[in-house]
Formats: sequence, structure tokens, C-alpha cells
Amino acid sequence: MNGERKQLDSVSTVEHVVERIRTSKRIVVITGAGISVSCGIPDFRSANGIYNTVDCHALNIPSAELLFDLSFFKIDPQPFYKFSRAFYANRALQPSPTHLFIRDMESRKKLLRNYTQNVDGIEQIAGIRSLVECHGNMHTFRCAKCKKKGDSESVIRRLLEDGSVPQCACLGSLKPDIVFFGEVFPSSLERSMQRDLARVDLVLVIGTSLRVGGSVLEFLRRLPDAVPRVLINKEALSGSSKTYSAGFDVTLLGPCDAIVRILTHRLDWPDPSKCLDRIGHLRALRERVYEVCEAEEESRVSVSVAAPADVGERRTRHAPKKRRIESM
Ligand code: OAD
Repeated sequence: MNGERKQLDSVSTVEHVVERIRTSKRIVVITGAGISVSCGIPDFRSANGIYNTVDCHALNIPSAELLFDLSFFKIDPQPFYKFSRAFYANRALQPSPTHLFIRDMESRKKLLRNYTQNVDGIEQIAGIRSLVECHGNMHTFRCAKCKKKGDSESVIRRLLEDGSVPQCACLGSLKPDIVFFGEVFPSSLERSMQRDLARVDLVLVIGTSLRVGGSVLEFLRRLPDAVPRVLINKEALSGSSKTYSAGFDVTLLGPCDAIVRILTHRLDWPDPSKCLDRIGHLRALRERVYEVCEAEEESRVSVSVAAPADVGERRTRHAPKKRRIESM
């Protein structure tokens, strides 16, 4: 996709966008860190983003980008885990209205795919199923050395308990299944994009600077000219992504949650934040982890303060459940 494509006259206003959403059946939504900002997770490249605000000195790293660099992680995984502990400790993680809007599109059988560059897993928490996490996910782990899968529940629990770097039986460090810089994208991504490029009838790009090549940029480059494409972002694209701006038929600038509210209102759909009914898989995982942590905290306190009968009762009520994590 570049500035040479002629913009579609038939898709040039907000009303046209609303009409296209209403009539389309195979929408591809491409998302980035901007849609999770209202969930309390900073994006990467804004002034308040991770790359501009991380305390490199405290983490003992020369630059914030190295947090997601494979070679660096293999040498020293500590900074990544020190940095990401706050994310795992955030018990209140909830989808934004934008996540729920995408979920709503799916329940109306309009969503072909959500390609997300986010690794926070909130799409899964929102219950979006036609999902491709292009850059992976922070909630599953694999040994950086022998590639054996780690047990998410115990890894996250230990991280919350003492912040230690999770280790495999082979003594390699467990690495979250994020596509770090220096890694290749899974081949399933290309297969999925190829299939979807032949079927998509509308593209919405939301909350991304489009600065990371190789995945979603590739999708946009190969998109047939006739497919309408809409950008929803807080600010105009800049730097190397500026050329892509010219390829969008409509650009809606502002906080994505506010724009999504306007769209849903005009579509006459319910406010997306009122659709928090379906519990996605990751939400269940997080709730289990916290349930166990809280039970352990409580039983530790109970041992010292409660009468023996009380302790027994509490332990029974909160006994950690031995459940296996399903693969994601
Ligand atoms: P960026 O931080 O590069 O871009 C986020 C975009 O979202 C910016 O253009 C912001 O203007 C916009 N934005 C911020 N808040 C918004 C809001 N409330 N509403 C709408 N837009 C908003 O993040 P990505 O483009 O997602 O890689 O970055 C892609 C990849 O870069 C990430 O996956 C990450 C990073 O390196 C890995 O984690 C491996």
C-alpha cells in the first residue's frame, strides 16, 4: 500500500465508514498498542510510551528496545522480567471499548480476522476468537534453550511472588512467547494473511504507528486496491509510516475508544463497554493465578492469626486447584 493507490470516492466520509461496517461481512481489523492505552498499558513510541519512559538505568540496560531483543534476553533475561512484573501484577486488566467493539463485530459475524501486534493478550480476555497475535503473547512461555513449553500458571505465580527469572529443568531461561526482535514470524501468520487477502472486504487499522515491518505492513502492502481501508489513530502517522497514510481512504484521528463510540452510536449498536459478558480464556487464566496467590497469602496470614479450626476451613475453601493450562 502506498500513496500511488487512488483513494476510493465511495469511501471518503464517516458515514461511508459506518455504512461499510454495516454491510461488510469479512472485516480485517489490524490493531496496535494504542487500543490498550486506556487499559493502563502504555504504547511503545508515544511520548508517554515504553521506549521513552522506561528507566533504563534502573533496569541496567543501554536502551529500552533491548527489552524485546532476543540476543540480549539470552544474555540477561532479568531486565525483561523486572520490567514486565507490573504487567503480570495488574489484576484489573480489562478490555477497552475498542477491544469490545471488535468482539461485537465478531459476534455479528462481520470479523474475518483481528491481526494484533499487541502481546498483552487483552483480545483473548475480551473473547475475540478470530485472532492472530502477530507478535505472540506474554502469557505462554517456552525455554529459550531447549524450547520446552513452561507452565504459565506456575511461571506467573512465581514472578508475582519473588520476581525471579523462570527457569526450565535444563536450566535455560523461560521466555514469553513474544516474537522478539531478532526472531522470525511464525509461518502460520503468512498462511493466514494469504487466505484473508483473498477474502477481506474492509480493513480497519486501529492504534498503531505502523512502524514495525514484516507482519501487518506486509498485509497492507498486498491488499487489493479495491478494498477500502480506514485508519483510526490518536495522531497522524509520522516518520517512515507517513507514506502509508496516503493509502487510507478515510483517516479518523482521536482516541480510538471515543471514535469507536461514535461509530457504534451511528451503527445503532449498544455501547461496547456494556458487552462484558463473555469471559475469554486468558481472563480465566489470570483469575486462577490470582485466586491461588490470594489463597496462599490468606493462608499465610491465617496461620499466624486465626484459630486452628478457621485455618482448616479457609485452606479447604481456597485450596489451590490443580488444573492444567490449555494450550493457547
Ligand atoms: P506504537 O507505540 O509504535 O504505536 C502506537 C500508536 O497508537 C501511536 O501511533 C499512537 O499515536 C497511537 N495511540 C496511542 N493511544 C491511542 C489511543 N487512545 N487511541 C488511538 N490511538 C492511540 O505501537 P505499535 O504500532 O503497536 O513489538 O507497535 C508495534 C510493535 O512495536 C509492538 O508490537 C512492539 C513494538 O516494538 C513487540 O512487542 C515485539
